[in-house]
Amino acid sequence: MKIEYTEEDVIRANRDIYDQLDPKEYEKRTDGIFHPKRQKQFKSILLSLKPERPDGALLDIGCGTGNICRLAKGIFPDRYGIDISHVQLKELKKKDTEILLCQTEAGQLPFKGNLMDCCTCCSVLHHLHSHKELFQEVYRVLRLGGYLYTDHDPNYYFHRIFRLYLVLRKVNVHSPGAIAEYHQFRGGLNPDRLAELLYRVGFRDVKITYRVSENPELTFFAKAVLRIFNLITKVLPIKTFYSHFFIIAQK
Ligand SMILES: C[S@@+](CC[C@H](N)C(=O)[O-])C[C@H]1O[C@@H](n2cnc3c(N)ncnc32)[C@H](O)[C@@H]1O
Repeated sequence: MKIEYTEEDVIRANRDIYDQLDPKEYEKRTDGIFHPKRQKQFKSILLSLKPERPDGALLDIGCGTGNICRLAKGIFPDRYGIDISHVQLKELKKKDTEILLCQTEAGQLPFKGNLMDCCTCCSVLHHLHSHKELFQEVYRVLRLGGYLYTDHDPNYYFHRIFRLYLVLRKVNVHSPGAIAEYHQFRGGLNPDRLAELLYRVGFRDVKITYRVSENPELTFFAKAVLRIFNLITKVLPIKTFYSHFFIIAQK
């Protein structure tokens, strides 16, 4: 029997998981995000989104311990972060007192006007049940010409194959951790569908970039498969061989 989860189930699973997760442990074990090479990539993308105005504002949605909003220091003078986990926010508060934080859900952004130059979601979209509300909210709080930058989400085209690996490893897709990683264990996110949705919400330019994860925390087998896929993409740049993608959409 197929078990369906509601939006509330997925939100609750995320809140529980991230309130129980030691923030230091999260950073230590998430090399795919906190590896210096990845940090450099994030920073150069943030620099490319820097507004010309001197008082640019960035909102990091699902900021966790502040990966993106901390990297944005010196690029965006005003930085905001929202997350549903008070434990992760507490850690971020200790690391950087200049970021204004709010504990709230991604689909309800606590801002009245359109004052953001950039909204970011790193490793967050695949934790959500659906994306329409979030994209509408991001569109609402962005200034005209502002950007939504999403990164570190599992690519559906790749996960059609990766699912086989999950089945072979007998990964339990009904554990609270797997429900929190909602789309990671349900075949990844379809970047083309997300782009369609972003256009429907009103964004005028949506660019998808595919990439292969070089995540050092993976098993030897998974790393070997990704290496091979990475080599194949040099000759055959087809969507199926890229494990992850990022999107930059302009209002
Ligand atoms: C994998 S972590 C990513 C954290 C951070 N963006 C980073 O790059 O390290 C996912 C984060 O999304 C948050 N989150 C999950 N569902 C959320 C929701 N519905 N609304 C707001 N935050 C959410 C979690 O609490 C967690 O901090």
